[in-house]
Amino acid sequence: MDAAAAHDYARKLIDEAHALTGDETVALIESHIAHNYGLLSRDPVVKAEGPWLYLKSGRKIFDGVAAYSAANLGHGHPLVREALKAFLGSHAPTVLGRFLPDPWLALFGRKVTQMTGFDKFLPANGGVEGPEAAFKLARRWAHKVKGVKGTPTILYANHCFHGRTLTVTQMFDEDEKAAREGFGPWASGFKRVEYNDLAAVEAAVDEHTAAIIVEPIQGEGGINVPDEGYLRALIELGRRENFLVIFDEVQTGWARTGELFAWQHEGPDARPDIMCIGKSVSGGYAPVSGILAKDELMSLFGPGSHGSTFGGCPISSCIAYAALHAIEEEKLVQQAQEKGEWLMERLQELAERAPRIKEVRGKGMMFGIELTKDGPDGHHFTELLLEKGAIIKDTHHWVLRFTPPIVAGKQDLEFALGCLEEVFVGQTASA
Ligand SMILES: Cc1ncc(COP(=O)(O)O)c(C=O)c1O
Repeated sequence: MDAAAAHDYARKLIDEAHALTGDETVALIESHIAHNYGLLSRDPVVKAEGPWLYLKSGRKIFDGVAAYSAANLGHGHPLVREALKAFLGSHAPTVLGRFLPDPWLALFGRKVTQMTGFDKFLPANGGVEGPEAAFKLARRWAHKVKGVKGTPTILYANHCFHGRTLTVTQMFDEDEKAAREGFGPWASGFKRVEYNDLAAVEAAVDEHTAAIIVEPIQGEGGINVPDEGYLRALIELGRRENFLVIFDEVQTGWARTGELFAWQHEGPDARPDIMCIGKSVSGGYAPVSGILAKDELMSLFGPGSHGSTFGGCPISSCIAYAALHAIEEEKLVQQAQEKGEWLMERLQELAERAPRIKEVRGKGMMFGIELTKDGPDGHHFTELLLEKGAIIKDTHHWVLRFTPPIVAGKQDLEFALGCLEEVFVGQTASA
C-alpha cells in the first residue's frame, strides 16, 4: 500500500470511529471484549486533554484518577505528542528485535538511570511485568548469591496490589473473591505479612527469604500510607538479614506523592535493591515499565534469562524518553508538593463538614477519602461524582481514590473540589 492510499484508508478508519454512537460503542465492547472490567459510564470518551475528558455526548469531565496515575502529566502532553509525531515522520523503526541496537533505547536507558540513580534498567511493557521480573531476579540472587537451599521465599504485604498475572493473583486478600476465586493453585515461595508492621517482617524472615515486595504507599489497597521510617527500616532489616527489598513504585512513582519516588520521602537510606516502575514513565502514551537495580544485581540477568518483544522497543523508548524530559520540564515534583499541600488542606476542611467522610489521607497528589460505613459505599459516590462531572473512583468499597493529573491547574482542581462539596455536603459547587 503506498502512502497516499494509506492516508485515505486511515481517514476512513478515523471517520468510522467518529461515526460510532455511544450506544453502538458500548454494544460492540460488550459483545466483543471480555467482561473483565465493568463500565462506569456508557458515554464514550472521544478526546482528552490535560485533566479533562471529552465525551461523545458533548459533556466534559474532570479525570480525578488520571488512569490510575498513568497520566500524571495529564492526557496528551504536548512534548510527548510532538516527539512521537517527529519519530513517526522520521520513519524510525517502531519495533526491532532487541539484538539490534537502537538510539532511542540508548537515550531512554541513560535518562531513566540518571533520574533514578540506579545503574541498570530492564525495560518491559505493562506494570505487572516489573514485579514479575523483580521476582525472577530475586530468586536468581537467592540461588546464586545467597545460596538458598530449596525454595526461596518472597514476602508480600496484606492489601497489596502488584497486578494481575498468575504469580501475583495470590497476593490479593483472601476475601477478594472476584480477583482470586478459581485461579489456584498458586505458585509456591510466596508468603504474606502485615503491611506497615516491621515486627511481622522480622518474624517471617528466615534463611530462605529472598526478598520482600512492598508498595511505598498502597494504591489499590486504599491509599494506605505506612508510618514514617517503615521503608528505611525494611532496607536496614534487609541488609542485616540478607534479603532484597523491592519497592513497587508503579503507581507511586514519577512525582505522584510529591517526590520523584515515594521512598525518597525517607531519604537516601530508603533506596531499594530493586525498584519497579510503570504507568507515567510513558506519560500515559504507551505501556512502558521495567525494573531498576545496581549493576551487580542486574548482571544476574544475562542473554536468554529474560525478555519481551516490545520491552524497550524504539517507539516506546522514544515516548518514554520524551515523557521523562516532560516530567523534568514541568517540575512535576514541585507541582505535586505545592498543589498536594493545598489540596490536602481543602480536603481536610471539607471532611470536617461531611458526615460521611471518615478520613482523608495521602501524600503529594495521592489521596484516599475514606467513608464511614453507615450508608451507601464508595461506588455510589463515584456515580454521583460522575453525574456532577468528575471521576473520583472507589477502591476497596469504602475509599475514594483521588489522584488527579499533577499538571491540573488550581481552577481545574477547584472544579473537582466543588463536585466533592456538592456530593458530600450538598451545597452548590464553588466552581
Ligand atoms: C503498585 C502497582 N503495581 C503494579 C501494577 C500493575 O500495572 P499494570 O496494570 O500496568 O500491569 C499496578 C497497577 O495499578 C500498581 O498499582
